[in-house]
Amino acid sequence: MTRVATPEEPLRCAVLISGSGSGMEALVLAQRARGLRHRTVLVLSNRPDAPGLQRAEALDVPAEVVGHYTAAGERMQREQHETAVLERLKAFDAEIVVLAGYMRLLSASFLERWGRPVINIHPSLLPHFPGAHAHRDVLASGTSLTGCTVHVVDEGMDTGALLAQACAPVFAGDDEAQLSRRVKVEEHRLYPEVLTWIAEGRVQLTETGALVDGQAPRRVC
Ligand code: GRF
Repeated sequence: MTRVATPEEPLRCAVLISGSGSGMEALVLAQRARGLRHRTVLVLSNRPDAPGLQRAEALDVPAEVVGHYTAAGERMQREQHETAVLERLKAFDAEIVVLAGYMRLLSASFLERWGRPVINIHPSLLPHFPGAHAHRDVLASGTSLTGCTVHVVDEGMDTGALLAQACAPVFAGDDEAQLSRRVKVEEHRLYPEVLTWIAEGRVQLTETGALVDGQAPRRVC
């Protein structure tokens, strides 16, 4: 999926955010504490007001905004915005794009022009509850089991090849915030781990999906 990286020459991750950035922060802290084979070289937000930008600054990670308006105040076309994102990824010599609460769909044209892996973490056990309101949909369904999924990004909405899942219980009376907090504990553990598998060269992409250590990842749902 990528070159095999080492702690000395870690895989260069660009983390794309739109919001609080707690997943990005957990990733950076794990990378630093454990000397992992991946490192965050850039945090990019499409929203200038994303609180995650302050978190990145506090961590001393380069953080930039690629917003949706031109200098003349006009709304950018999607392609124009994605071209600006690509330019920053290349400027920082990123090797993999890690979506962490990035609330935009990336187009097929972006994925082709980027030509390198993009991964995402979604707060449900895909293929159940894709989309922007996973926790709300989980609660409405009445299920007692949820979790998170790390997957390869394709042009669909939360449809790319599964890499790993982790579970979390849904308790009676949970609200979205409670559920989100519980699932994020799993997200913050799982995302650095999956990136380590990728950096170790243990993940292959095939026509039919991803293989980890030569095996199809086991769905937990
Ligand atoms: C996470 O739950 C992630 O799974 C989803 O968006 C949320 C981002 O949270 N894609 P944060 O900005 O990392 O706190």
